[in-house]
Amino acid sequence: MRLDVFTQVPHAFAWQTEQRPLAGVLGGELELRLFNYRDTTPLRSGQVDDEPYGGGAGMVLRVDVVAAALETAYGDQPSHRVVALSPQGRQLTQAVVEELALEPHVTLLSSRFEGFDERIVQHLCSDAISIGPYVLSGGELPAMVLLDAIARRLPGALAEGSGEHESFSTELEGGLEYPHYTRPAEFRGWTVPDVLLSGDHGRVDAWRLEQSRARSVRT
Ligand SMILES: C[S@@+](CC[C@H](N)C(=O)[O-])C[C@H]1O[C@@H](n2cnc3c(N)ncnc32)[C@H](O)[C@@H]1O
Repeated sequence: MRLDVFTQVPHAFAWQTEQRPLAGVLGGELELRLFNYRDTTPLRSGQVDDEPYGGGAGMVLRVDVVAAALETAYGDQPSHRVVALSPQGRQLTQAVVEELALEPHVTLLSSRFEGFDERIVQHLCSDAISIGPYVLSGGELPAMVLLDAIARRLPGALAEGSGEHESFSTELEGGLEYPHYTRPAEFRGWTVPDVLLSGDHGRVDAWRLEQSRARSVRT
């Protein structure tokens, strides 16, 4: 998969690219490219945003700047998905992550300050995604959230089997994962459920599914 991120702060991604799961798939299952709008802006002095028509606070990312960035990277209008990261977009869920992880090529556009000129979302993007109903200062953290969530769904990102029985997986009927315990078996009188110490894998599997179902009903 190829994932392109357009941002005003490409260096923000340095930490993430050194960490698993991203580090494990980079150069193999995932090709990540970071583009800075400032490198291709047609305006002077690296300008990428401007004051909003109609007045008001904040700066708005310009449509001609984003069009120039996309044209430099892809030539014509790209045929793959171009996603605007916006609090007004479709809400991110595990199902959306699975959908994106199947795409061969995805572009993420981030903005800052007041956000995008609306014509960017309307004419240059295929869709918009929000990572939750709250407002962050920029699209870099949302891009990193998506990057991490997508990377861990790619082949080889996780240890064998560890990504299968997770919260929201079909193996757990879309529900929440069961509780985990590790050593010591008792701490301050807090004990581990006997079934997990029984060595009976059938009973363990049944208990885990039951716990997963109980947790999923509560939320
Ligand atoms: C301060 S926000 C702009 C908010 C916009 N004025 C509004 O009220 O809808 C600046 C940028 O951060 C990113 N952003 C902020 N919150 C986000 C969220 N929940 N999901 C995705 N992107 C977000 C977007 O790229 C957005 O354009």
